[in-house]
Amino acid sequence: MSAGVNRQRMQALVAAERDSYIARNPESARLAAEAGKNLLFGVPMHWMNDWSTPFPLTVREASGARFRDADGHEYVDFCLGDTGAMFGHAPQPVAQAIARQAKRGYTAMLPSEDAGPVAAELARRFGLPCWQFALSASDANRFVLRWLRAATGRSKVLVFNGCYHGTVDDVFVDLVDGVPTQRDSLLGQVHALTDHTVVVEFNDLPALEAALQQGDIACLLAEPVMTNVGMVLPQPDYWEAAQQLIKRHGALLVIDETHTISSGPGGYVRAHGMMPDALVIGKPIGGGIPCAAYGFTEELARRVEQAKRSAPPGHSGIGTTLSANMFAMAAMRANLEQVMTEPAYHHMFALAAQLAQGLRDVIARHGLPWCVTQIGARTEFQFTDQPPRNGSEAHAVMDFELEQAIHLYLLNRGLLITPFHNMLLVCPSTTAQDVARLLSAFDDFLADTIQKQIC
Ligand SMILES: Cc1ncc(COP(=O)(O)O)c(C=O)c1O
Repeated sequence: MSAGVNRQRMQALVAAERDSYIARNPESARLAAEAGKNLLFGVPMHWMNDWSTPFPLTVREASGARFRDADGHEYVDFCLGDTGAMFGHAPQPVAQAIARQAKRGYTAMLPSEDAGPVAAELARRFGLPCWQFALSASDANRFVLRWLRAATGRSKVLVFNGCYHGTVDDVFVDLVDGVPTQRDSLLGQVHALTDHTVVVEFNDLPALEAALQQGDIACLLAEPVMTNVGMVLPQPDYWEAAQQLIKRHGALLVIDETHTISSGPGGYVRAHGMMPDALVIGKPIGGGIPCAAYGFTEELARRVEQAKRSAPPGHSGIGTTLSANMFAMAAMRANLEQVMTEPAYHHMFALAAQLAQGLRDVIARHGLPWCVTQIGARTEFQFTDQPPRNGSEAHAVMDFELEQAIHLYLLNRGLLITPFHNMLLVCPSTTAQDVARLLSAFDDFLADTIQKQIC
């Protein structure tokens, strides 16, 4: 698929951009080579090699909407740690709270004074009264699935095709030609995931109903807007009907707000009046400090407590030693009370709207069949003029070569967007000038690569 760009021209441009990256970043190159001697694949996480760059960029420091690399270049960050730093890097209130906590202990396997206020604030925001904590959204999702299977006595989990909820084995089941299929890229996976995972397309109510009718689904684990296969919005009224179906068939709804917290202080659920039985939130909840939280309705909390009480004594398989540590709780409290505020969101919404409209204008000016989707502070452009309705459609329009070309071009001009698909976040310290700079560079890229009509 050409997506409206001239491939030959783009490949030549990428070759020049790679040379430029290498020339521009000698210190990052040196550090990558040095660190690589003792790191598997040369990086601390194997996927850090998956960026568009010939070798990883080394970050020296990050603050607000900006970071500086080891060669001293400054970047405007629209990736923001793929949501981990959605409220800016090192927000002051979080920095102060963890500096305070640094002298008062980190972990004790006992609750700190911040536990109650953090849980109360989460309850107020999301409308769910009972909370627990984890160190990552992946962990939180895993734990919620355990609790809900135990509480319902049902073994199966339902997910949407193309979803991602972290490294949760249960969700790595795709629809391949309509057949649920375990993802073949998974390493060391020995369990038959399709035995206990059912997968349907997003926005397909008959498929959802057919799955629920079997009566063995414990819960649907879903993002309210799919964000990890590009962005896929729910059709109007989809969630209202889906929630009714889930309830009617005795299943539970778990909403993963880890990315869609871009929708507002109470996430997509509060902004759109959804009533999940459980909610998961990770990444930015502690300002970038590793932590996550999950909440239950009163009714589900009682069922979950009953499941634990009636189980034999011993390990539940839920929780880790450092979960809910004092450090993480202090970070979450400061972040919730002082950073993830209404005024912060107002600023982010206004700028993201400016960014989304600016992208649409640039795309239209170049006559490309691409679309732009915005969910609060989160914006995505996709290589199709019809916004995808489900994971299969979204996956079909992904174009890795083109994405990487755009990412590298922007990076060489001091602008970072997410390394996978085309997501851009704005944070409370992103400015209108930053957005204008991004739009201008995007415009230049398209001018350099679009298909020229042959007369
Ligand atoms: C929706 C969603 N949930 C959960 C996760 C997992 O987060 P983490 O990698 O911090 O565990 C991700 C990661 O991208 C995500 O996109």
